[in-house]
Amino acid sequence: MAKTLIRHAVTADFDTLLEIDQASFAGGVAYDAAELSYFMNRNGAETIVLEEDSEIVAFLIFEVHRTGRSGTIVTLDVRQTHRRKGYATQLLNHAEDILSRYGVETYDLQVDTSNRAAINFYKQRGFRTVRTLRHYYANGNDAFLMMKEL
Ligand SMILES: CC(C)(COP(=O)(O)OP(=O)(O)OC[C@H]1O[C@@H](n2cnc3c(N)ncnc32)[C@H](O)[C@@H]1OP(=O)(O)O)[C@@H](O)C(=O)NCCC(=O)NCCS
Repeated sequence: MAKTLIRHAVTADFDTLLEIDQASFAGGVAYDAAELSYFMNRNGAETIVLEEDSEIVAFLIFEVHRTGRSGTIVTLDVRQTHRRKGYATQLLNHAEDILSRYGVETYDLQVDTSNRAAINFYKQRGFRTVRTLRHYYANGNDAFLMMKEL
């Protein structure tokens, strides 16, 4: 059975995270190196990675807002070959534990309205759609703003 571990990202992980993100999203939506670095290093941001047999196969970036009461899931990516194994669920549970310990009460995220897998996943995890953000992405696609109380 595969051995999994969740830990905070370190600088040496950056290229792997960039590669996973670029493989997960279409051009124009995936982050380039500067964007990924920007989001990982913003005030209040933390990146956690999931290793399977010592190799990173998924990661999640979240951010706690300045008030300390709310947060955002910036991105959550699982390698295509490692999906439907519960890894996104494990990462989200881990992020929620950290957010709860910080006293965060609500958190949100944006997801492409055509991304059925992610929308199903987040609904199954207790998120509800709050509104539609028109032309949110660089490629013109709309996003749903989804929210969850902790
Ligand atoms: C969305 C994503 C993060 C889900 O990761 P995952 O590790 O496969 O998710 P899990 O295995 O934890 O899935 C938990 C549940 O979510 C739902 N779900 C996940 N993927 C789904 C899919 N493709 N279709 C329908 N439901 C899905 C199911 O209810 C699933 O439970 P089940 O496998 O017992 O049926 C992954 O597909 C991904 O990385 N996609 C590309 C990047 C992306 O879109 N990220 C989110 C945008 S912010």
